[in-house]
Formats: sequence, structure tokens, C-alpha cells
Amino acid sequence: MSHITNITLKIWRQSGPDDDGRFESYTIDEISDEASFLEMLDLLNERLIEEGKEAVTFDHDCREGICGTCSMMIDGQAHGPQRGTATCQLHMRKFESGAEIVIEPWRAAAFPIIKDLMVDRAPFDRIIEAGGFITAATGGAPDANLIPVPKPVADASMDAAACIGCGACVAACPNGAANLFTGAKIAHLNLLPQGQAERFRRSEAMVDTMDHYFGSCTNHGECEAACPKEISIDVIALMNSDYLKGKFKNRKSLSRT
Ligand code: SF4
Ligand code: FES
Repeated sequence: MSHITNITLKIWRQSGPDDDGRFESYTIDEISDEASFLEMLDLLNERLIEEGKEAVTFDHDCREGICGTCSMMIDGQAHGPQRGTATCQLHMRKFESGAEIVIEPWRAAAFPIIKDLMVDRAPFDRIIEAGGFITAATGGAPDANLIPVPKPVADASMDAAACIGCGACVAACPNGAANLFTGAKIAHLNLLPQGQAERFRRSEAMVDTMDHYFGSCTNHGECEAACPKEISIDVIALMNSDYLKGKFKNRKSLSRT
């Protein structure tokens, strides 16, 4: 184990939604290169509390790349410099001694800052509420082969289900679009047999809700590059296709009622 020394942190401090906010500088004299980025912030916070100062507020929960809460911009990159990695899985060995590290919250109109590095990602919840569910009575666990699902289809659905709802795709997008997130949530369900009953109603409702809160996708592809779960931009193509079909099919079913 070796140590990284003499690190300067420039951290965004904002006491609440109405505060203008500003960068403040802190130094970390020495830290193990095996420490995670969040452990480094823990160390800083312990020191701030000992000095009678206010700790830096940041979201975190699982600390193993599952919950998606540890969202922050590190040197202008969502989740930092390591591709396919959430902030909690980033280690200090990715940084050099003497480095200056700039840490900011997500910058997106749909994600207002609550405090310091913590933002409100409730618009993601509104998208899920609009259609991120199935109404099939699933009962107990069925036999493994009761509903045959081709392996490539199951794999594609599972890849989309890997989305942890972190919001990096929105923060990285110059338009603040949420198409990768919404596409992942739609693809996860729309690809599987259990998701067919609401397929087109789901697509229309979730995309319309997304459009209400977020900007429009113009195919920059920054979302795919920033995603810690490496969700493919292909899910956006599936979403767009199902949304268009939904516009026709949903109207057709309405006309029968
Ligand atoms: S698609 Fe990727 S970047 Fe966007 S919310 Fe899901 S995991 Fe995060
Ligand atoms: S703390 Fe859960 S994904 Fe980072």
C-alpha cells in the first residue's frame, strides 16, 4: 500500500436551494491509494467536524455501485475519471500526489441542488411512476422454463436493468436529457414477455413524463460515455420506436372503447 499526498480539493458548498453557492478549498495531506473517493470525503468530514465546521453533504448508501446515489462531478466528469465506475467504486490511486480535484454536484435544471453535492432527482421517480411496472399477477416463483425467453433477449433486458438511476446521463448531456435512463427502464420491461401487456402505454406515458421534466436528446452520446453501468445508447432507439408505435396503438385501442 502506498499513499497519495498533498491533495487540494475544490468543493462546491451551498447551504440550500436558495444559496448562490461557491467553491471552497481543502487539503488532504496524505491518504492511502486504496481508499475510495467517498472514504476520502469521510476523512475530510471527520476533520471538519473536529474543527467545529460543517461537514460536506453528499449522497451515498450502498458504496458498491448499486444504489446510484453517490452522484457528483469530479474534475468535470460524472463519477470521475474511471469509465464504467460509480463514485463509490473510484479509488484514490486514480489520482496523482499534488493533484487539485474539483468536486461539484450534478448541474441539470431538472435536478435542483438540495445542499452542497446533494441534488433532488425526484423527476426520475415521476418517470418510473408513469410506467416502470407490470400489472401481470406474478404469483409465486414459476418453474425456470415456464416462460421461454431467448438468451439474447434476456441478456439485453438484464443489461438495461443494470441502470442504477444515478443521473450521470442527465448531468453529462448538454441538453440535460434523460433519454438513456428512460430508455433503459423501458427496455428492461418492454423486451420481456411479462412486460408486453403495458408495452405501448408504458412507452408513451414514460416518454411524455420525461419530456415534461428534461431536455431533448440530440444524439451527442455523452450519456453513454458517462454511464457507470455502460448502458448502450441502443435503448434510446428501442424507446423511440416503441413510443412511435404507441402513438398509433394506444389511439387504436382507445377508438374501440
Ligand atoms: S442510464 Fe446510466 S447514467 Fe443514466 S441513470 Fe442509469 S446508470 Fe445512471
Ligand atoms: S453509494 Fe450506491 S452506487 Fe455509489
